[in-house]
Amino acid sequence: MKFITPYVTSIENALGSLDLPESPRTLYDPQRYMLGNGGKRIRPVLTLMACGMCGEKRRKAMPAALAVELLHNFTLMHDDIMDQAESRRGKPAVHIKWDESVAILSGDSMHTRALLLLNKLDTSVDYRQINTIFLKGINKVCEGQALDMEFETREDVSLQEYMTMIGGKTGALLEASLQMGGVIAGCNSTQLHALQQIGKNIGHAFQIQDDWLDVVADPDKFGKRVAGDIYECKKTYLMILALERCNKDQKKWLKECLRSKPLQDEDVQSVISLYRELDVIEDARTKMAELYDTAEQSLEIFGESEDKRDLTQLIKTLKKRDH
Ligand code: IPE
Ligand code: IPE
Ligand code: MG
Ligand code: MG
Ligand code: MG
Repeated sequence: MKFITPYVTSIENALGSLDLPESPRTLYDPQRYMLGNGGKRIRPVLTLMACGMCGEKRRKAMPAALAVELLHNFTLMHDDIMDQAESRRGKPAVHIKWDESVAILSGDSMHTRALLLLNKLDTSVDYRQINTIFLKGINKVCEGQALDMEFETREDVSLQEYMTMIGGKTGALLEASLQMGGVIAGCNSTQLHALQQIGKNIGHAFQIQDDWLDVVADPDKFGKRVAGDIYECKKTYLMILALERCNKDQKKWLKECLRSKPLQDEDVQSVISLYRELDVIEDARTKMAELYDTAEQSLEIFGESEDKRDLTQLIKTLKKRDH
């Protein structure tokens, strides 16, 4: 991970110099808590790399990089309420440490502050284009999150519908992160399209991997409740494959199970056994790896640069991530 350190360090430093007011404490303490609580910083790193890869100094993209990281953390605060998830990055989620009202409002403030950060971009940047990419991306995240919730109570979600849902909830912000970096560097339309494709494929891969990790992750590294998606009856990649592959009796049992959210521990264990029997865990891993490879291939159109080499390396590293 040595190659990524300079990017992450510059992002951590810039996040550290965001001057958050002391009060009201219930508005700003949760934001400080969230931003100071680790996180891989994948999205802002992508913004900086895309900017460098398109021929501009990375630091020109820093306001946009910070904006995507704030926005991402806002989505996590609200997502943990929606998913009734109690831990995040190995610590209590904001709505548990404080309460739901605090998590909603401090999330809203973080969302707004993310947008305000874009005002700090250099005046030479096409602000209107950046703003459009970011706002459209955010709305696509909301669409994905809405589908994710709707799917919890639907029994017939297709793989195609699932891909649309994750393309929104996870892919949209990754696409926007890369595209904003490109636009800040004045990229051409071919490059902008390639950045969108890379974001889309990383997004699909990243979320299938997130679904996979939900079942296989080491609880000490994961930082979230293992099998949380099964407890919450989420239509993950694994669950959709299982529903497609199981026989009549297994399907009857599984559908019955999914009607009783949240699931009991023993039912969750039975679902995991069924996943093993139907090979869906291994197949999710294969699909995820293929999608990362596809993302890597879209890098071909860019000229050689340090940032391109780093982005290639980042994709390879993401493929192996365990949390
Ligand atoms: C978690 O994203 C939410 C998903 C889209 C799966 P990350 O795994 O990037 O979260 P942090 O910021 O590193 O904790
Ligand atoms: C997260 O999806 C997507 C967003 C936060 C927008 P998940 O609900 O799967 O993410 P985790 O597993 O809680 O991090
Ligand atoms: Mg969710
Ligand atoms: Mg969640
Ligand atoms: Mg998840």
